[in-house]
Amino acid sequence: MSHEQLPTDQPAVVTVGLPYANGDLHIGHLLGYFSGDVYARGLRRIGQQTAFVCGSDMHGTPIAVNAAEQGREPEELALSYHEQFEERFPRLNVEFDNYGHTHDETNTEMTHEFVETWIDEGLVHEREIEVAFDTETGDPLPDRFVEGTCPYCGEKARGDECDEGCQRHLEPGEIEDPVSVTTGNPAEYREQPHKFFRLSEFQEYLQGFIDRVEGSERARNQPREWIEGTLEDICITRDMDWGVEYPGEDRDDLVLYVWVDAPIEYVSSTKQYSDRVGREAFDWEAVWKLDGERRFGAWDDDWGETSGEIVHVIGTDIIQHHCVYWPAMLRAAGFNEPRAVIATGFVGIDGKSLSTSRNRAVWAKEYLDAGFHPDLLRYYLTTGSDVESDIDFSWDRFAERVNGELVGTLGNFCYRSLLFAARNYGGTPDTETSDEIRAHIEDAVERFETAVREYDIRALGEVAIDLAAVGNEYIQRNEPWNLVDDDPDRAAQVIRDCVQLTRACAVLMQPVMPGKAQHLWEHVGASGDVSDVELSAALDAPAAEFGEPGELFEQVDEETIAELNAQLRERVADTDDGDGDGTADDDSDGSDEEVDLEPVTTDRIGFEEFQELDMRVGEIREAEPIEGADELVRLEVDIGVETRQVVAGLRQLHDVASLPGTRVVLLANMETAELFGVESNGMVLAAGDEADLLTTQGDAPLGSTVR
Ligand code: 2FM
Ligand code: ZN
Repeated sequence: MSHEQLPTDQPAVVTVGLPYANGDLHIGHLLGYFSGDVYARGLRRIGQQTAFVCGSDMHGTPIAVNAAEQGREPEELALSYHEQFEERFPRLNVEFDNYGHTHDETNTEMTHEFVETWIDEGLVHEREIEVAFDTETGDPLPDRFVEGTCPYCGEKARGDECDEGCQRHLEPGEIEDPVSVTTGNPAEYREQPHKFFRLSEFQEYLQGFIDRVEGSERARNQPREWIEGTLEDICITRDMDWGVEYPGEDRDDLVLYVWVDAPIEYVSSTKQYSDRVGREAFDWEAVWKLDGERRFGAWDDDWGETSGEIVHVIGTDIIQHHCVYWPAMLRAAGFNEPRAVIATGFVGIDGKSLSTSRNRAVWAKEYLDAGFHPDLLRYYLTTGSDVESDIDFSWDRFAERVNGELVGTLGNFCYRSLLFAARNYGGTPDTETSDEIRAHIEDAVERFETAVREYDIRALGEVAIDLAAVGNEYIQRNEPWNLVDDDPDRAAQVIRDCVQLTRACAVLMQPVMPGKAQHLWEHVGASGDVSDVELSAALDAPAAEFGEPGELFEQVDEETIAELNAQLRERVADTDDGDGDGTADDDSDGSDEEVDLEPVTTDRIGFEEFQELDMRVGEIREAEPIEGADELVRLEVDIGVETRQVVAGLRQLHDVASLPGTRVVLLANMETAELFGVESNGMVLAAGDEADLLTTQGDAPLGSTVR
């Protein structure tokens, strides 16, 4: 079944992954919040009734661990971050229709409703399982309270996720060589009764779901591997007292697993919105609930036709939760399924992975304190790469893009057009917009609609800039300043076209740069709120009168950038691992950098053996991600004598677009291999977990042998 084209006449809900109320917001989080906000605004703009909701994720062991370490109560710690987020999101122009939190009454009740329905439907069972306990204190060690080795890939893993390796969700008892995070004591597994959700019942349903779900490619494809394999039931309870209590049992030391009540907050937050604005204005049940007949039992082909649209914007690391567990949890409670899931990539800093434990991050507060308008960063992050690809942030590139694309293209076009119009005509010249320019705007409007329908957030953000580029070329080609005296009609025509283009830019840029769009809207003499007008307003006649405009964007100056660069460098240099215990601090983005140095191997080799390795100096000429493979990149490496195609696991760790031009060392006589259907003919050498590429210090010619 394919979905009805957007916009539909049903209400829609757009959500973004809930931030853990456990740490300050940084640029890695912002990519997701900006993307969700841009998408919700875009969807509304094409005429879909849309609620954009979120809330703080208050529960879970990361918060409990931090609170324990700080000697605070988890609730107090989580609420303080919740308040910080509530204050910060609007300053970033991220405007939720409702922002709740998972510990509030609505969510507690809603979670109980879900779980009680599962119980009634026979979808929960109890089983004795092994859970970790601290061998010395005797305390239970759920999830993040324990760390060890991932049983699937052998990487270091923390609690319920293999965040440095295969990214799998780990069930209690699965982690190998467990150790307590808080005491460092070894942990042991003991039998304990726990509740399980019968995920295994949903295999067939999920196979249908994954064929139907729309959104970004990785979110639609990555879950297939899990859904087609054996689906194990999931443990939904934990031995702790911070969380939503498991309903129906008189135990205050048994709470629901955080991944039960967290996504349910999407529903609760929508309900809070409905309660606030009234059900006539927004009906949360029309989006979330299935009608009576379709709620339970057999598969129904009319799926989705009478319910509203749910779009989740999430990070790549939580695809499994949203595309496997969550749809089954919804279905089991008689709720509607997501129409689309959009997964955003990771944000790197200066070509390296973001690391909060190293303080190699740009913090939301820091950005705002530097005095930059939020729309600049919104533009940078949402249009810098395709939504699923990783994006690198550097202050230099920020300045380059703001000064080039926003000041140079968009700002410059709008300013010169409006200034000329105001000075010579007091506003919009009294003539019609030409067919040529009308066609360009119609085209841009169509691109905008397509971008929303295809969940292409980058394209959505680029439409206005591209239109401004058309405008710059048009004004330059027609030189209205030379026409005013000799051909006044033609001059008026050209300027009318430019004002029309400016008005269209304001309408089309609104999702990505809402604050700047409103300024431009006012500069072009329009009244009201640009976010309230329809997309067709791009082609409506501009105001007859307006005054001289102000500058829309300011140049970012070199000194500020130099200061911010120095600040970042110093901070990273000053922040070693922090606590001196040999472990990195909590790093909820999964980009920890703890280095476990291996001892030097005692097996010696002779020079002859070494010479069997034919290593050459090369240079990357081309680099592109390999479809379907999260970490792999296809490289063309020039090694002087020939150019080799190589597949390398660099994608998560490097900005792929910046790889061409990098000198590398290639093991040229490595056996060939085929990965994801692509032949790899050689191996590029890299060091450490971050795949730091080996390069040459001088300029040895390409093809030189490494000895
Ligand atoms: O991974 C995270 O940061 C979680 N706090 C996201 C929760 S999203 C949702 F499903 F609740
Ligand atoms: Zn793993």
